[in-house]
Amino acid sequence: MKFPHLFSEGRIGTLRTKNRFVMPPMVRNYADGNGRVTPRYLAHIERIARGGVGLMILEASYVSQDGKGFVNQLGIHEDGTIAGLKKLAAAGHAHGAKIGVQLYHGGRQASSTTTGTQPVAPSAIPDPVVNEVPAELSKKDIALIVKRFSAAAVRAKKAGMDFVEIHGAHGYLVTQFLSPFSNKRTDEYGGTPAKRLRFLKEVYIAVRKAVGAKFPVTLRLSGDEYVPEGLQLKDTVQIVKVMEKLGIAAIHVSAGNYASYAKGVLIPPMAKKDGLLVALAAGVKKAAKTPVIAVAKIRTPEMAEKILAEGKADFVAVGRMLLADPDYPKKVQEGRLAEVNGCIACNQGCIGRLFAQQDVWCTVNPETGREEAFGVKPKFRRRVLVIGGGPAGMSAAVTAAERGHEVTLYEKEPQLGGQLKIAGILPFREDWLALRDRLIARIVRLGVTTHLGTEFTTDMAVGRKYDIAVIAMGSEAIRPNLPGIGRNNVVISRDLLEGRADAKGRVVVVGGGCAGAQTAEALAGRGHPVTVIEATGDIAVDAPIDDRMLLLGRLEKLKVRILRNTKLMSIGPKAVTIEHPGGTVPMPADTVVICLGSFPNDGVLKELERHVHHVKVVGDALKPRRVTEAVAEGALAIIEAEK
Ligand SMILES: Cc1cc2nc3c(=O)[nH]c(=O)nc-3n(C[C@H](O)[C@H](O)[C@H](O)COP(=O)(O)OP(=O)(O)OC[C@H]3O[C@@H](n4cnc5c(N)ncnc54)[C@H](O)[C@@H]3O)c2cc1C
Ligand SMILES: Cc1cc2nc3c(=O)[nH]c(=O)nc-3n(C[C@H](O)[C@H](O)[C@H](O)COP(=O)(O)O)c2cc1C
Ligand code: SF4
Repeated sequence: MKFPHLFSEGRIGTLRTKNRFVMPPMVRNYADGNGRVTPRYLAHIERIARGGVGLMILEASYVSQDGKGFVNQLGIHEDGTIAGLKKLAAAGHAHGAKIGVQLYHGGRQASSTTTGTQPVAPSAIPDPVVNEVPAELSKKDIALIVKRFSAAAVRAKKAGMDFVEIHGAHGYLVTQFLSPFSNKRTDEYGGTPAKRLRFLKEVYIAVRKAVGAKFPVTLRLSGDEYVPEGLQLKDTVQIVKVMEKLGIAAIHVSAGNYASYAKGVLIPPMAKKDGLLVALAAGVKKAAKTPVIAVAKIRTPEMAEKILAEGKADFVAVGRMLLADPDYPKKVQEGRLAEVNGCIACNQGCIGRLFAQQDVWCTVNPETGREEAFGVKPKFRRRVLVIGGGPAGMSAAVTAAERGHEVTLYEKEPQLGGQLKIAGILPFREDWLALRDRLIARIVRLGVTTHLGTEFTTDMAVGRKYDIAVIAMGSEAIRPNLPGIGRNNVVISRDLLEGRADAKGRVVVVGGGCAGAQTAEALAGRGHPVTVIEATGDIAVDAPIDDRMLLLGRLEKLKVRILRNTKLMSIGPKAVTIEHPGGTVPMPADTVVICLGSFPNDGVLKELERHVHHVKVVGDALKPRRVTEAVAEGALAIIEAEK
């Protein structure tokens, strides 16, 4: 056995787990508006359980309506939720996993737009991100919420869950009491560490009383909140010592809150290193007697095994890895590491969508949240034509081939990948190349007939009897019609990144979307003085919030100049003319890099419809967007055509 610690039995109180892999809580927005489990939710949880994870912690589930954080979050606030939770518990158990629920109240990090009422908190101070003044909880209100936690724990037990976890992390209500960052009370619930701990103690004691001595109750904490006045590891260790004495069965060590979210510690994005919170778990582990769960960007079994072997934690939680590949634990156990379709930490499909109150997708796994549709076997074997080998086309091809169809793919370039190859050469973006390589490996493994270096024209479909054609031809860069655009000091950013064009001297990047800002970073990194001009009020607004803040920080360090509300008017040999609120002025520029987005490339659609019954346009060819949409649409084109 290559990973003996990972696949050894784990213990949390009276619980025994078959291995040390934990699914940490992740809100999906798959429940109905009343917090009840839907068939979609059940299929999703069943799919993850089937992949071999040992311990599953269901998402932050609101114990009362005023603490609800997301529109379709799971609820455990009333008895009507028990029937659905029972199904989830059974799904976990059917595959040998142990399963529990995270009990949650959002406090001031919940918003009235979701709850319908003013948020509540220990003190009437708004969270800096949600920015809504909460009502300070009276002692009577506190007692009521404590009761709600214990009633929720009883529901979990009735539903057949194996344990509950109290959500004491991420700046939600329990942390709001624990932390001097949010708790400014002067009564018995604030003022000293012991008083700030009172609310959590009351919640725990009430829960314990309600579920009995043997039912494990675990606790999630932010090892460090990474905000001024916030909790740090030394404070967390003190909290753990007290809670251990009371009987907490395990400590789950995460980090951060909404105010520090953009620092990229809570759900580390691509630009952050792997395993960055392990030191916090290890710090707690040193002081704790109860089992410790480590989490955050632990993406290889080697890293997980090392954490366990070195005694830094007793369990390893792998959240986004399981969204990306629910079979991850099973594949590790069976030595199929090359087949792992790991998380690339893009934070676009999962948390990016969740924070926009949408349902969670996974950029690299279109089955996530669509398990029911993927679970329906196709009735017939189809002949499938895919045009374009970017993420949309490759996703269509692997989905079709994995479902047993006969697939032919055309790509005009000598290699597959589409825009992934340029997205992935930008600084801190190499995970896009990992996705490209994995998709290519799957295409090869599945034996897809691939014509590289072949520009598809409709005559290639004539007489081939294709049942389904997927047009995934991507997009072309926009070239604005401006005086001087034809000069040889003007380059398109895609050409530059692909090495077809070069930049010299002082560079002006025109267009401050995410791609433009990243291109500016790459050029500044190569030593060019760079200015970004952006017509709207800010740059990189299309990037996930954490990625954006990290990117802005790096641009500042690289001294990239950013001109907002500024338009390019004309281009000369050594200067451009720009228009901004102060007027129209010249600006020196040796090279002008155009990064103004793209337009769809679906040229063959009309003609192809005459030869193939079912034609679908997907990804950028439909509308230039992101890899997340491209991969999803590529796969869904196949599933929908099977109907
Ligand atoms: C610099 C840059 C950074 C980016 N960063 C991100 C990011 O961080 N996150 C994100 O989600 N998205 C990002 N994107 C956007 C993302 O790459 C695209 O949305 C995505 O690649 C679209 O996928 P697609 O398969 O639809 O198209 P493409 O990736 O463009 O693939 C289309 C493929 O079709 C081929 N093709 C075209 N015509 C034919 C033909 N007639 N016959 C055969 N083959 C043909 C092309 O050669 C190409 O390989 C970035 C884009 C750029 C340029
Ligand atoms: C979509 C999404 C939803 C999340 N929801 C919760 C939650 O309900 N409760 C919680 O404590 N943490 C939540 N988290 C944080 C994860 O539990 C985990 O700590 C984080 O994703 C880092 O681990 P990973 O790199 O293995 O994904 C969420 C993360 C994601 C991506
Ligand atoms: S959407 Fe991106 S970050 Fe989220 S699980 Fe999928 S690959 Fe990972």
